[in-house]
Amino acid sequence: KKTENQMLVIFGASGDLTARKLVPSLFNLFNANQLPKNFIVLGASRSDMTDTAFRKKVVLESKYLKEKFKQKSDKEIEEFANTFFYEDLGSDYDTDYSRLRKRVEDLNNKYKTGGNIMYYLSTPPTLYEPIAKNLADAGLNTQNNGWKRLIVEKPFGYSLETGKALNAGLQKYFTEPQIYRIDHYLGKETVQNLLVTRFANSIFEPLWNRNYIHHVEITNAESVGVEKRGGYYDKSGALRDMFQNHLLQIVSLIVMEPPIGDQPEEIRNEKVKALKSLRIMKDEETLHDHTIRGQYMASTINGEKVKGYREEEGVSADSTTETYAAIKFFVDNWRWKDVPFYVRTAKRMPTKVTEVVIHFKAPHHQIFQDSGLNNKDNKLVIRIQPDEGILMKFGVKVPGQGFKVERANLDFYYSSLAETHVMEAYERLLLDAMQGDATLYARADEVEAAWEFVDPILEYWKNGKDVRMYGYAAGVWGPENADELIDGIGYWRNPGEN
Ligand code: BG6
Repeated sequence: KKTENQMLVIFGASGDLTARKLVPSLFNLFNANQLPKNFIVLGASRSDMTDTAFRKKVVLESKYLKEKFKQKSDKEIEEFANTFFYEDLGSDYDTDYSRLRKRVEDLNNKYKTGGNIMYYLSTPPTLYEPIAKNLADAGLNTQNNGWKRLIVEKPFGYSLETGKALNAGLQKYFTEPQIYRIDHYLGKETVQNLLVTRFANSIFEPLWNRNYIHHVEITNAESVGVEKRGGYYDKSGALRDMFQNHLLQIVSLIVMEPPIGDQPEEIRNEKVKALKSLRIMKDEETLHDHTIRGQYMASTINGEKVKGYREEEGVSADSTTETYAAIKFFVDNWRWKDVPFYVRTAKRMPTKVTEVVIHFKAPHHQIFQDSGLNNKDNKLVIRIQPDEGILMKFGVKVPGQGFKVERANLDFYYSSLAETHVMEAYERLLLDAMQGDATLYARADEVEAAWEFVDPILEYWKNGKDVRMYGYAAGVWGPENADELIDGIGYWRNPGEN
């Protein structure tokens, strides 16, 4: 695909995300010769900085770049840094952008970026709509002289209502095809590989339905706590922070019907359909029985004392924000009717891991009953991260007399593939947007369908009767009560176990 000449304008350019993620991703693209011939970055924020100071901050003296690119010469880094410019917006993002417009025009003329502009909003979400409006007021959204695109970061709202309002707010100034909502999980190779596993093979898809699948389990665990983001997290919680976006994206790729082709809208249409088929939990009884939340409590991990969630900086001492969420749900469509899905996500688990486990039904008629198998189902374990790969578990005969069956593993590791450069999530996603490919970006209706599902759970957790909140010691696999959710059907497969 062709990447046209363009300018990347980053709002919130003095923030952490720019230095930590965006600039290293751009540097990777630069090193791989993936950036267009004429390409510049214009940082914009409220800080008073010169071009030189900005170059120093995010490139030349950036610890993130230094750490990652030790082998790169000063000359290469300098050449890259010279493509960076900076414009001070004054004391407020919500202001007149005519000065910004002038700067954009000057740079465009000088560096021949073809009038194509990618706006990246790396600011608090409350500023998204004001920035879009100010860009429009300054005529910086018009596509008469080159395309204009807008990338926004999550959170895409706080609830269904605010999510819809945000979409509508942005769509006043940019058309939906111009808007790119980034979900960095879609930039992960293994998440994209869900599509390939399903639709480029003939051995899985015939089994990928209620006739053969017993249940689906997804675990997303992080060993870290809320780190320095207590203030943000306490207003968010695991359901908004991870489940509404990243995990429902994974769910949609597992649930979706085969798209007719690999074009962005062909794939996104199917994902929306999938999200719309999730059974929305309406009554309190279901909400009570099918959702579990928890908070990590102080503990000692490897001899080190770890704070409880409520003691974290920025978190209120009587917070009811969940750091653990486990949800059971069903998908009401032809393919998935009555197949339970179990999804959990949490901070302060024993390890950082994300995996999907497809549990297949046992054979209809079991003739090897005394096989000694304690866990009869066939499983397909898709390791999203780390140790990216796919593991298939199936029974084999133990050599010797009789028919004793034992579990064997077919295990594929991504790392065994050719040593090509595996793009990082942000790098891949940025390049896609630069090329106008929105396949791996969330469309407005996708985000809204995800909120439709999540909203009643949030509402129940906030105002419902008899809502439970469990504590779990930091460093364990969540509250024991989460086992009740999956009880009778199986058990949570703690990643790493056989
Ligand atoms: C972010 C969340 O979207 O994803 C963080 O806000 C979380 O709380 C992060 O830590 C996890 O991403 P990854 O790629 O490390 O699994």
